[in-house]
Amino acid sequence: DGFGAKKLFNQGFSYTYDDVIFLPHYIDFPTDAVSLSTKLSRNIPLSIPCVSSPMDTVTESHMAAAMAALGGIGIVHYNTTPSAQAAFIRSVKSRRVPLQSSPIIFSPDSRIVNEFDDPAVPCVLVTQSGKPNSKLLGYVARSDWSGEKQGAKLSDYMRPADESLVVPSNYDLYKLDSHLKQQERERDFAVLAEEGGVVDVVTKEDVEKVKGYPKLGKGTLSSDGSWMVGAAIGTRDSDKERLELLVKAGVDVVVLDSSQGNSIYQIEMIKYVKRTYPQLDVIGGNVVTMSQAQNLIAAGVDGLRVGMGSGSICTTQEVCAVGRGQATAVYKVASVASQSGVPVIADGGIQYSGQIVKALVLGASTVMMGGFLAGSTEAPGQYVNKDGTRVKKYRGMGSLEAMSKGSDQRYLGDKSKLKIAQGVVGAMPDKGSVLEFVPYTMQAVKQGFQDLGASSLHSAHELLRSQTLRLEVRTGAAISEGGVHSLHSFVKKSF
Ligand code: XMP
Repeated sequence: DGFGAKKLFNQGFSYTYDDVIFLPHYIDFPTDAVSLSTKLSRNIPLSIPCVSSPMDTVTESHMAAAMAALGGIGIVHYNTTPSAQAAFIRSVKSRRVPLQSSPIIFSPDSRIVNEFDDPAVPCVLVTQSGKPNSKLLGYVARSDWSGEKQGAKLSDYMRPADESLVVPSNYDLYKLDSHLKQQERERDFAVLAEEGGVVDVVTKEDVEKVKGYPKLGKGTLSSDGSWMVGAAIGTRDSDKERLELLVKAGVDVVVLDSSQGNSIYQIEMIKYVKRTYPQLDVIGGNVVTMSQAQNLIAAGVDGLRVGMGSGSICTTQEVCAVGRGQATAVYKVASVASQSGVPVIADGGIQYSGQIVKALVLGASTVMMGGFLAGSTEAPGQYVNKDGTRVKKYRGMGSLEAMSKGSDQRYLGDKSKLKIAQGVVGAMPDKGSVLEFVPYTMQAVKQGFQDLGASSLHSAHELLRSQTLRLEVRTGAAISEGGVHSLHSFVKKSF
């Protein structure tokens, strides 16, 4: 019944996830017996197969910390200066709570003006130099603040920093929670600090919120107990200097970011990274064909990123006439990568859990997501109100807007003066925290694996390879039938 993957994907058609459907197999285990543990690259194990895209509206330190806390990983974008990107990496490495605020820090001689107008600001901190990396002297809590103090120096009325105000930056959520509960005084925040100075301010309210989400495991940790984090770079000479800063900041894996990775530039960069930083995993791409993959594997990549034009904000296929349907691309690349033990990242085109199941079963070890994670609490940027909906910006890194900030490397081979957009700018509705919706999504993925009789990614790949799993292509009518249909209206809630 149905087709084996080998036959289905060798008929001259380019299929994407929605085109194909698996036939159910046999269930002999409960959903909770499904393990989604996997590898991002040769030496980076993950407990969930989720990676956040290196895009400036998706992954900075807050998203990367949250992805690591979930057991996945975030790849920090490089549409910024090398030192700012390295600061994002340090910020992830310096904390063990998936929370982040930007504390307001002043010197003792400064005066508060309108900082407390923002209701989200719990306190103002006072350090010797007015910068985070200097001695903490005191603080002013929101409850201490009144307009009359506006003209006075902070040193005249701040409260001195006491021992219970500060906790080590490597406290996890549960330790921080019990510390906040034990605080003698009525203070609803604590300062995370390390030897170098202040790391962040965390409020009781934020901790309570995260505690209400599905319980977090131990997350994705490096050998020193810090959260793992990746970073994207390009393939120019200047990226070698950028990489040096990132390595100093503690980056665990580097992604060479290109929409067409099969190039001499990338092959040389892979060799350079492996030669210069043998301990660092390097992920190459993007690729969509077997021969592109073989070239990068021969150059020594530890992981391959697959997808060209499949992203929700991509226009590469329309602009350049190049690309491949994502289901075919993942299957084809994974079939060669698996022979060399190189994990595959299915990048782009994920809108719901069923597509994650398809990507993983077709051979990917992880999925990389942009749009799916954009609009969340952890995505960079502010929410704005658009036609009555709270939204955050989500934009392609090849959009003119992003390229004008510097991301043109990924889409232009040289310093071309004429910029051609390969992506668009849009917005995503407020989806809440990834700490809440990703665990639900993973539970849905486990149910898909159970229907297929696969209790792990390894067993799914085996079932596919042995042709035990059967697939079919869906007609347009079958795709409509498989979605919600024939209702006057309906309310969609994904979990
Ligand atoms: P999703 O579907 O998850 O896709 O939103 C995210 C992936 O899309 C890629 N990307 C782009 N591709 N033009 C493109 O052709 C762009 O401007 C662009 N920006 C991001 C990238 O691989 C990302 O992970």
